[in-house]
Parts: sequence; structure tokens; C-alpha cells
Amino acid sequence: MKDILQELETRRAQARLGGGERRIAAQHAKGKLTARERVELLLDEGSFEEFDMFVAHRCTDFGMQDQRPSGDGVITGWGTINGRMVYVYSQDFTVFGGSLSETHAQKICKIMDMAMQNGAPVIGINDSGGARIQEGVASLAGYAEVFQRNIMASGVVPQISVIMGPCAGGAVYSPAITDFIFMVKDTSFMFVTGPDVVKTVTNEVVTAEELGGATTHTRKSSVADGAFENDVEALTEIRRLVDFLPLNNKSKPPVRPFFDDPGRLDHSLDTLIPDNPNTPYDMKELITKLSDEGDFYEIQEEFAKNIITGFIRLEGRSVGVVANQPMVLAGCLDNDSSRKAARFVRFCDAFEIPILTLVDVPGFLPGTGQEYGGVIKHGAKLLFAYGEATVPKVTVITRKAYGGAYDVMASKHLRGDFNYAWPTAEIAVMGAKGATEIIFRSELGDAEKIAARTQDYEDRFANPFVAAERGFIDEVILPHSTRKRVCRAFASLRGKSQQNPWKKHANMPL
Ligand code: HXC
Repeated sequence: MKDILQELETRRAQARLGGGERRIAAQHAKGKLTARERVELLLDEGSFEEFDMFVAHRCTDFGMQDQRPSGDGVITGWGTINGRMVYVYSQDFTVFGGSLSETHAQKICKIMDMAMQNGAPVIGINDSGGARIQEGVASLAGYAEVFQRNIMASGVVPQISVIMGPCAGGAVYSPAITDFIFMVKDTSFMFVTGPDVVKTVTNEVVTAEELGGATTHTRKSSVADGAFENDVEALTEIRRLVDFLPLNNKSKPPVRPFFDDPGRLDHSLDTLIPDNPNTPYDMKELITKLSDEGDFYEIQEEFAKNIITGFIRLEGRSVGVVANQPMVLAGCLDNDSSRKAARFVRFCDAFEIPILTLVDVPGFLPGTGQEYGGVIKHGAKLLFAYGEATVPKVTVITRKAYGGAYDVMASKHLRGDFNYAWPTAEIAVMGAKGATEIIFRSELGDAEKIAARTQDYEDRFANPFVAAERGFIDEVILPHSTRKRVCRAFASLRGKSQQNPWKKHANMPL
């Protein structure tokens, strides 16, 4: 009996070594943790339950029958993050470069199926050379099996991808389908075709980092939602994110203890809006002053900075925030910001996270760049996402809400539940100067007359009261009371139930 127990321990110890000491040392030398170390850091101490530790590949080509390491290059199982269940897979680069074989894919599929059945998020840690070259089409089939599960799980359980090494070729499409992608600076990259193929086909010379590193994907392509300095920071931040999310689409986000009075008044907000309506201010100041303990988890911080997206808590409950940022492009909506915010709104709606929208938007950014880039379709994405969302929606207009952008930003007409405005709000078709120059074009030669017309337009429309008279604004509120008003609004909406008409699925403007 003792020998049998000993054999299990020996086998386990061997499996834990993955590709062996030499390759583990090489992994560490690159500044990367091993697949197992990552799982340990991600999950609560001692909570990891592993599946399929002894699974080995079945390939007999290219001498593979002589190398059958236990686990086959991926560690899978479940554990908890602050006591809440998650499923996890972590690719082991020390075993055949973390490449995906038929059996490696089966291990991932098994935990994805269990996550769906049991209603818990899936966190995938990617560090892989892609398809197991020795296995050919069996590996491609394995990828497609994973993709199909990613698609079915979308909107059912949160899916988070952490890229902690290479992720290339078709392998990128599993993370691409998931809800969030995070990368580690300098040690991770993602691309469909690598630098060598790029050189051959287009003659462009580009490094892996330039083509698909964390900077590229957080600033240029927007493929990634955030980047971290190293593995430890990345895993710590993923734990923080999971705390904001529900386990599945049928459960509510967790309620965390909070130590911040929901009725807290903040008088500094009364002077947040500068006297000159064209002077920018930092909308993030409002977000952090509203939220419990000033905590804000930003998504896509480095991309389309003219709109801010992320999570806060109010009275301990998760709220998704979408806010125009007057500091960048005066807070205009454009192609990138519309896409960014639309995706975020849809995530919140899919997982029953209420949405707070903070509005200071002078309109859509004009220009051929925008029109050629499809601003009509991209703007419509955000409009569609807001209009389709049935979660509680609370909107606060701090300053400008002009034109179509007024409609888009969770207006009353898109089923906003509470639409508040500060006294500094200007809700109009456009700014006074532009409006006057159009409707009084014949008087353009007379500067004095135009100035008087502009003043008149401003007096009549540059305020929240015209909209409030029509009930498009539910209440004009004092800036210092915003946290209190917004907390009460969301509290009153906890029982909200709204259904869209039955359909197979909508045809949103993708
Ligand atoms: C089998 C692989 C492998 C792979 C790496 N290895 N990639 N084994 N299949 N795809 C093995 C290596 O043989 C090596 O084994 C070990 O992993 C580490 O690899 P190195 O090259 O020494 O590491 P490094 O220098 O860090 O380079 C990492 C790398 C490179 C950039 C990922 O290995 C690489 O370019 N690999 C091939 C990538 C690729 O073309 N994959 C297929 C893409 S197509 P030893 O025994 O020496 O430790 C694809 C299609 C998916 O993925 C389609 C889905 C629809």
C-alpha cells in the first residue's frame, strides 16, 4: 500500500516539473513565472483543485511517442478568488512550448464545459507556441473546439484571457472571443502572422514587440484591455477585476463591504466645471469622487482616451461607468471611442451590471478620417448598445450634451432610468456659435449682431431647463450631491425588470 501511495507522489512530483528544471530556469530567466506558479498566485492560497494532471498526448509521429510528459502543456482546474469559484487553465511553455495538441485542447474544453454547467468564470492564461506542429490537423480541430466553447460561453460566464507569452496564429482567436484580454509588458505578444511572414508578404520589417506587444495592443489596435508590468502585477489585478464581476449571467455581482457613506456630499464638485465652457477638466476626478473609497478599475485606459470605461462600486455594488473625457478631443465621440464604449456597455448588460453614464460631449468628431473610417456605423454601435441594454441606467450630464451625441449617451429616449443634469449642463443641437452661424447666415458680416444672436441662443438653450421642462431630464441636481443622488437612484432600481421583444438575436451594426 505504502508503495502505491509513494508512486502517486512520485508521479505528481514529476508532473509538477513540467518540461524539467532547465526549461523552468529558462522561463524564469525571461522574467516569466511558470504555469503552476501563475495559478497559485491567481487563486486563493490552497484553493486550486487540478484536473487531468496525468493526461498525455497520443501522437506517435516524429518520435513523439518517446516524450509524453504528464499534463501535456496545460494546467487546468478550478479554485477560488476571494472565496468565489473560477475555472482556470494555464499553458505551460516548458512543455513543447505550451503548444496546443488534441489532448491539451480536450483539457481546456473539459473545464470550459464544467464552467458553463456550474456557472463560474473562465480565466485562460496563454503562453504558447500555437498549434502543436507534430499533430497537424488534430491540433487545428482542438483549437476550433475551444473557439466553439468560447462562443457558447460568451454572455453566460465571464471569460478573461491573460497573455503571458507568445500567442500567435489562429490561437489569438480564443482570447479575441473572450470578454477581456490583458497582457504583460515586454514578455507577451499576439499576432495573426509573425514578423517573418510579414516581411515575406509585405516587405515590412517589424519586431514582434512592435507588431503585437502590449503597447501595440493597448494603444493602437485596442485588442487588449490593459497591460501590466509583470506576471505578479497582472495576476493581482485580475483578482481585483473578478471581484467586480458576477459568476454568471444569472447571478448578481458580489456586494462587498464598504466604508464610504452613500450620502457623502463632495463640495469640491461644485467647482469642477470651469467658468469657460471650452476649458477642459478631468472627468476621472468625478468618477473617483463618486465611487466607494475612490476605487476605479479602468478598462482600455490607453485607448480612445476621449471616453472612459471601467468599474466602480456604489454601496458595495458593481457599476459600469462610461464617461466622456473633456481632456481629450474635448470629449467628442469618434470611431474608436464609440466602439470601445459600445463593447463595454454590452458586457455590462450581458452580466447585469448597472451602467452610470457621465456626459460632457460636444458631438461627433468631424472630418474625412472619421467618415471614411465609418463613424456612421461605429457611432451606431454605441447607440444600439445603450438602446438595447435593459440593466439600470443612470445618466448625469455635467456640461455639454450636443446633437446626436446627446441622444447616444444613455439619454431618456434610450430608456435611461434616471437622467440627471448639473445646473452647468448645456443640452442643445449644437454650440451657440455654430448654431447662430447657420440660422443667421445672412447676418454673418455684422459681428455685433452675430454676437448678440449667439448670446441670445446661449441664454435660451445653454442650460438644462429646456430639457427638464419636457421631462427629458428628471431632475437638475447640485454637483456636490451627485454621489447621494446616484446611489439612491441605483438603489431604487434594484428590482428593475425590462425585457426586449423575442428575437433570435439582433443585427447590431458590427
Ligand atoms: C511544437 C513547439 C511549438 C509548436 C515551440 N515549440 N512552438 N513544439 N509545436 N508550435 C517547442 C520548441 O520546439 C522548443 O522545444 C520549445 O517549444 C521552446 O521553443 P523555442 O523556440 O526554443 O522558444 P523561443 O525561442 O522562446 O520561441 C518561442 C516561439 C517559437 C516564438 C513560440 O517557438 C516559435 O516560433 N514556435 C512556432 C510557432 C508557430 O509557428 N506555431 C504554429 C502557428 S500556426 P524544446 O524541446 O527545444 O524545449 C497556429 C495555427 C493555429 O498556431 C490555428 C488555429 C485555428
